[in-house]
Amino acid sequence: MVTNKKIGVLLGGLSSERDVSLASGNAIMKAFADKGYRPVAVDVGRDVAGKIRESGIEVAFIALHGKFGEDGAIQGLLEVMGIPYTGSGILASALGMNKIASKQIFRSQGLHVGSYEVVSRDNAGNVDRVVEKLGYPMVIKPSAEGSSVGVSLVFKKEEVPPATEAAFKYGPDILIETFIKGKEVQVGILGDRALGAIEIVPKRAFYDYEAKYEPGMSDHFFPARIPEAVYQKTLAAGLAAHRALGCRGYSRVDFIIDDKGDPYILEVNTLPGMTATSLLPDIARGSGISFPGLVEEILRLALTTP
Ligand SMILES: Nc1ncnc2c1ncn2[C@@H]1O[C@H](COP(=O)(O)OP(=O)(O)O)[C@@H](O)[C@H]1O
Ligand SMILES: [Mg+2]
Repeated sequence: MVTNKKIGVLLGGLSSERDVSLASGNAIMKAFADKGYRPVAVDVGRDVAGKIRESGIEVAFIALHGKFGEDGAIQGLLEVMGIPYTGSGILASALGMNKIASKQIFRSQGLHVGSYEVVSRDNAGNVDRVVEKLGYPMVIKPSAEGSSVGVSLVFKKEEVPPATEAAFKYGPDILIETFIKGKEVQVGILGDRALGAIEIVPKRAFYDYEAKYEPGMSDHFFPARIPEAVYQKTLAAGLAAHRALGCRGYSRVDFIIDDKGDPYILEVNTLPGMTATSLLPDIARGSGISFPGLVEEILRLALTTP
C-alpha cells in the first residue's frame, strides 16, 4: 500500500463531460478496491467543499474532466483545504484546459503547432477573413472544452456558421485551425517518463465524441505504427509539452503526425480518460503497467511529488 490515508475519488462534476467522469471515477474506485484500498466516492457539485470536509478524505484522486475539474478550479479548492491531490496543479491545469494559452506556450518552446486563428464573439465578423486565410478543410472548436464537444470539421462555406455557433456555445473565444492530415497519435506520460504512443484510427471523419465513446467506433494500435525515429521524436515532443505547461503526475498528449513524420501537437490532457479501456490505461498496459497499477502509481506521485 502506498498510503493509509483516506482516499476520496472525486467524480461526476459539473462539466459537459460528466458522464465520462463517472465512467473514469467508477473504474478508478474498482481499481483501488482490487488493490485492497477502501476509497470513498465524492460526487462533485456546487456543494463539493462541504462534502469533502464531511467525508474526511486525506488525499483526493481527481477523476473529473473539463470545467471545474480539469481547469485548476478544484485543484485550488483542494490547495486551500490542505488536501493533496493527483495530477497537475492549478496553473498547469488552467493552461492545459485553455487551447489558446497552451498553444502559445508550445510555440514558444519550439513544438510544432498547426496554423490557427482565434476569433472572439465580439469580432465574429472576422470569421470570413480567417476562413479565407486558412482554407479548407478546417477544424472549428471551443477554446476550453474536451471530448470533442463543440468541435467540427468543416469542408465548405455553408458549414462555417453552424460550426462557429456550435463552438461559441462553450465560451466567448473559438479556434479555427487548419486541418492537419495525418495519423492521430497520443503519448502517455507517467511521472517524468513518456510511456509510449498509441495510434487512433477513428471510423468517422475525425475523432469526435462518438468515435471516442461508442464501442467499436475507433481502432487503437499500440505501439503506434510509425517509424522508430518518428516514434521517439513524438515521445520526446509529448514529454516536452507536459513539461512546458508544468504538468505533474500524468497526462496524455494528443498529436497529428503529418506525412513528413512531423508531430503536430493538438493539446495536453491533464486529466485524461481513466476507464480500463481508455487510451492512457491502454498505453500503460502496453508498457507492462496494469490499470490498478497505474491508478496506484498516480496516487503515489500525488503524495511524493511537490
Ligand atoms: N487541427 C486539426 N487537424 C486535424 N484534426 C483535428 C485538428 N484539431 C482537432 N482535430 C480532431 O478533433 C479531435 C478533438 O480535438 P482536440 O483539439 O483534441 O479537442 P478535445 O479537447 O475536445 O479533445 C482530435 O482528436 C482530432 O481527431
Ligand atoms: Mg483531444
